[in-house]
Amino acid sequence: MNNSHRMASASLLPKIDPTPVSQQFEAWKQAVLHSTTLTLERTLPASDEIPARLHEAMRYAVLGSGKRMRPLLCHAAGEAAAANPETLNVVGAALEMVHVYSLVHDDLPAMDDDNLRRGRATVHVQYDEATAILVGDALQAQAFMALSQAPVSTACQVSLVRALAMAVSSVGMVGGQMIDLASLDTKLDITQLERMHRMKTGALIQASVRMGALCAETTQLNIDSLDRYSTAIGLAYQVIDDILDATVDTATLGKTAGKDAKDHKPTYVSMLGLTQSRHLAQRLGEQAHQALKNLAGRTDRLHGLADLIINRLH
Ligand code: IPE
Ligand code: IPE
Ligand code: MG
Ligand code: MG
Ligand code: MG
Repeated sequence: MNNSHRMASASLLPKIDPTPVSQQFEAWKQAVLHSTTLTLERTLPASDEIPARLHEAMRYAVLGSGKRMRPLLCHAAGEAAAANPETLNVVGAALEMVHVYSLVHDDLPAMDDDNLRRGRATVHVQYDEATAILVGDALQAQAFMALSQAPVSTACQVSLVRALAMAVSSVGMVGGQMIDLASLDTKLDITQLERMHRMKTGALIQASVRMGALCAETTQLNIDSLDRYSTAIGLAYQVIDDILDATVDTATLGKTAGKDAKDHKPTYVSMLGLTQSRHLAQRLGEQAHQALKNLAGRTDRLHGLADLIINRLH
């Protein structure tokens, strides 16, 4: 075979990326984190825009560290169905802004009364309580504003707005937070505990996957598989959060460790103990992997994120 023949037949072979899978996943994750940060930077009002103190506090809350798990899930689900990456950036940023609003309010004295978040002072400690309340309110509005301007059809924008609104509504995150606060010093049964966790944390995780898929032309079969996947990791996310609160130090967590026991919160750890809670998280991880079996399109990132969520150390 002469050289030109050899080159012609080589170009017909499928391109195989020799980079190990774990390195490919890490590179993808870093790229999403970078584009998410850039999108958040340009979506949030500038810190010198009036009222400057509010805008500075919004940027303080959002632009610090944070695992950005909801944007990552949104990108992974959207890319499985070849959605436009710029749309996923906007939707991922909206999810992160709503999530940060929930954290800022969760930390308020009237709620969990925490002074450390993402390794630094919580917003009400760094600024003041009224500012922290308004930061949460404004981030929520900013998130819906971003969705209303996402580069997709009007019908798709409405679907995205509805999905996010449902997830954080009184039957989603906010309702879960209400049950959480009403449950201090009480004993929930396992059904009540599971419902609380699915509402306060699972709903937004589920919406992150669902909204990524909504950005693409996704078949009903894929939506069903993705919903099964996100239902499993959504519950697992808060089960692991409960485990980490009881087992990891404050410096690693970037938030005060041991807070749930101190506040007499009903959690999976207080209810089932550490070993059974860990087993449950493993089982939910397996369910998530299983749910991806019938999904058309690339699933490696979704598998990778499920592992990351189950095995995370902070
Ligand atoms: C913490 O969320 C609160 C929960 C809903 C469990 P994360 O663990 O995702 O927090 P960040 O975004 O990385 O700070
Ligand atoms: C919070 O749950 C869930 C939210 C909706 C913010 P936690 O109260 O356990 O979250 P952390 O441990 O403070 O991050
Ligand atoms: Mg809480
Ligand atoms: Mg809390
Ligand atoms: Mg917690």
